[in-house]
This record gives sequence, structure tokens and C-alpha cells, in this order.
Amino acid sequence: MPQSERDSTPSGIDTTKPSVARVYDYMLGGKDNYEIDRHVAQAALKIAPDAPEAAQSNRAFLRRTVRYLAAEAGIRQFLDIGSGLPTQGNVHEVAQSVTPGTHVVYVDHDPIVLAHGRALLAVDETTVIVDADAREPEQILDDPRTRSLIDFDEPVGLLLFGILHHLSDEEDPAGILARFVRRLAPGSHVVISHFHNPGAEHPEVSEQAATAEKLFNEHLGTGRWRTRQELLAYFDGLELLEPGLVPLPEWRPDPEEDQAELGITYHTFAGGVARKP
Ligand SMILES: C[S@@+](CC[C@H](N)C(=O)[O-])C[C@H]1O[C@@H](n2cnc3c(N)ncnc32)[C@H](O)[C@@H]1O
Repeated sequence: MPQSERDSTPSGIDTTKPSVARVYDYMLGGKDNYEIDRHVAQAALKIAPDAPEAAQSNRAFLRRTVRYLAAEAGIRQFLDIGSGLPTQGNVHEVAQSVTPGTHVVYVDHDPIVLAHGRALLAVDETTVIVDADAREPEQILDDPRTRSLIDFDEPVGLLLFGILHHLSDEEDPAGILARFVRRLAPGSHVVISHFHNPGAEHPEVSEQAATAEKLFNEHLGTGRWRTRQELLAYFDGLELLEPGLVPLPEWRPDPEEDQAELGITYHTFAGGVARKP
């Protein structure tokens, strides 16, 4: 590792093992990543050269859906699970640009996210970052920091951007999601973006997804490109809003804002928004 990186590494961060948050940061053009992360990212780019565009497309989906929840669905409090490293257009910035004072609780388990998040995200009494594991929903829901900003009698925007595909089948991501949703008030919304394997519909893309899944699991120990049926199952018991579960750029595109995305479709990354009845 170069001396400059060694000097700037916050304590508690293991730079000998790649981290999901840091590999993703590299794909987004960020600077909070290390040699080991870049090595994995370069290998992923050989399989999926459009990974940086897909990551940008995920952030654009985040901006559109959070804006929708704040402006159209009247959501004033957000719980963002697997929030990642701060980047441009963080959830609280998007939501508070619509409604100042909107509360945002960020949750992540990676020490680098917590180190940088505390410095950059926990800006005032409306925003907090909680170090917790997505696989422990009750711990997150009952954490005093969560409770200090979220009133579970009122609708919540539960955000799961690029996180459920880091939970294995054995960890039962749909079951974990259901444990969060059970505690939300009617009128709450759930947003999911997730790696997608389109199967026989796009055989070449499906093969690429399978190769990427193998690489991710070898290097990062996680990563599942799930089928459409598996993704739709997340929304069981919820009202999936139009246009349903779609490749990210196709979710209510905004021609004003997302010029770079227009006309590009990534069948390996899908998402949707649903409302709790
Ligand atoms: C690909 S990043 C997505 C970041 C952000 N949500 C976005 O979409 O731009 C996934 C994030 O989920 C976090 N993560 C993965 N597994 C987690 C778990 N079990 N508990 C909490 N966070 C987790 C990682 O640390 C990483 O920051």
C-alpha cells in the first residue's frame, strides 16, 4: 500500500481485505478505496465494463425514488440500510432539498462508511449514522439513535439500495426485509435496487451475471444476482408502484436530470418502489 494511503487510513479499517463499500466507491469514481479494492474492481470491470455506469445508474435511481417519496408520497423520515460511503446526492440532501428538516437514519456495518459517514453525513440533528448489521432488523429498529429520529407510528421510507444482494440465500433476505416492514406504519414505502439475472430472456447478460457472481463471491464473499421471481417476492404483501420492477434507468426516467442514462438499460440491475397498504 502506498505511504499516502497508509497515512490517511482511519483506524479500525482492514486494508488487506477488499470491502463492498470501497469497491463500489471505486466504481463511482470515489477516493475512499485501497489497492486491494481496486484489484477486485479491475477484475469485475473485465467481466462487466459498464459497471461504473451501472453504479451511476443506481445513484440516479436513488435520487429519483427519494425525490418521489419526499415530494409525492409525503415521506418525512427515511431509514437507509447499507447506506455506503458518502458521495454526491446523499439521501438526506435529496430529501431535504424537497422538505427541509426531513429525518434520515443511515445504517451500515463497514468501519470506513462509519468513519467517513460520521464526518460528512451526521451534519445536524436531522441525520444520524448507526453502525449495525442489516441481518439484525430488530437491533436497528430499536436502536436509541434510530428511535430519536424515526417515529414508527408515521410512514417511513425504507431504502435498500444495493444491499439485499449482499445477503446470501441462507441469510433469507426476504425474511429480513419482512421483519423491517412488519414494524412500519401503513403508507410507508420500500425501495429496492438489486443485482438481477435475467435468465433465458437475455442469455448473454445472464452468463455475465453468473460470472460476476462467481468473482464477487471469491473476492468479497457475497453477491447474488437473483431472478425476477426472487426479486418480486420481496414485494409480497406490498403495492408495487408503476412501472413495477424494472431495469433501473426505466423507473420513471427524468429527462431533465439523467441525460447520461437515457437509452441505456442494464438488465443486471433492477429496482422498484412499493407502498405498505
Ligand atoms: C453497494 S453498497 C451500496 C451503497 C448505497 N446504498 C448505494 O446504493 O449507493 C452496499 C453497502 O451495504 C453495506 N452492507 C453490506 N452488507 C451489510 C450488512 N449485513 N449490514 C449493513 N450494511 C451492509 C456495505 O458496507 C456497503 O456500504
